Amino acid sequence: MNDHATVERSPDPGREVFLQAVLGGLSERPRSIPARFLYDSRGSALFDTICAQPEYYLTRTETGILEARAAEIAGLAGPGCALVEFGSGSSTKSRLLIEAMDLAVYVPIDISRLHLDQTAAQLRLDYPELRVQPVAANFMKVEALPADIDDAIRRVGFFPGSTIGNLTPEESDAFLRRARRLVGADGAMLIGIDLRKDPTLLTAAYNDAAGVTARFTLNLLRRANRELGADFDPGAWQHEAFYNARLGRMEIYIRSLRGQTVSVAGRSFAFQPDERIHTEYSYKYDPHEFAESAHRAGFRLAELWTDPAELFAVVWLEAGPAPR
Ligand SMILES: C[S@@+](CC[C@H](N)C(=O)[O-])C[C@H]1O[C@@H](n2cnc3c(N)ncnc32)[C@H](O)[C@@H]1O
Repeated sequence: MNDHATVERSPDPGREVFLQAVLGGLSERPRSIPARFLYDSRGSALFDTICAQPEYYLTRTETGILEARAAEIAGLAGPGCALVEFGSGSSTKSRLLIEAMDLAVYVPIDISRLHLDQTAAQLRLDYPELRVQPVAANFMKVEALPADIDDAIRRVGFFPGSTIGNLTPEESDAFLRRARRLVGADGAMLIGIDLRKDPTLLTAAYNDAAGVTARFTLNLLRRANRELGADFDPGAWQHEAFYNARLGRMEIYIRSLRGQTVSVAGRSFAFQPDERIHTEYSYKYDPHEFAESAHRAGFRLAELWTDPAELFAVVWLEAGPAPR
């Protein structure tokens, strides 16, 4: 098992990769576990519940933009293209595009293998004419699309959900360069970015009153218990999310409610009261800065669509000259 990109059969991150990430991340200071491990099957299902929370404006706002622009997007993409979604989750937003676009193939890429397979099976039932080729992989490492996707087919990457915001600026640059190689010289990317706004709205979105985001974050500890035989007491930890205005990002942590020692695969980790494990960033964008980073990766920002309150933006990037 590994999380390196393979194309035809890409294994789930697997126990060993998760184990090394947890052992490595808990040994460093500050302690952290990468956000992609939040998404096992339970995490993927909880994420869908987060999307339905009233405070989580991101999903309904982005969906509204996509609904309003679906025909325009289909026109920009052109006929017979491949839609490649990075971090596809339940592919809910892709359904809007699948229905509006003339697709040769839909390629959902996600690290949460079981959820990906179930989603692909449902899409095949709902759209019997559509070719669906899921790839279970870490999208930071995907080097190529499945070999039977003809080079002559135009490739349109789709990266919704503000998932790009989970990447640090360096990771985001690396991702966009990789995406540029993957879609090629006549490709395009459609990306959902969350915009900078009143911190009160942001903080509420990641601290919903029903506590779903907290359950999603703490599921990481339950996952470590289930898959690695760790002995985290989930009741002794708390979800914490706040806006760092200087860096323009939400920061999400798991905070230890008391002094405690946790064992993971025979290694012990001592935590002080209030000590934190970082799990996630969610960067909020200034559209001009985003356009510059896309440009550095070899894309030209051709369209930027937003909602009336300018909470969220969906951008259409056309591939330009490849960066050197
Ligand atoms: C914020 S959710 C977005 C889901 C969906 N695209 C949407 O807009 O509703 C992020 C998705 O990306 C997946 N994901 C996160 N990091 C990933 C990685 N490094 N490689 C592949 N998939 C990843 C998660 O499993 C999850 O399904």
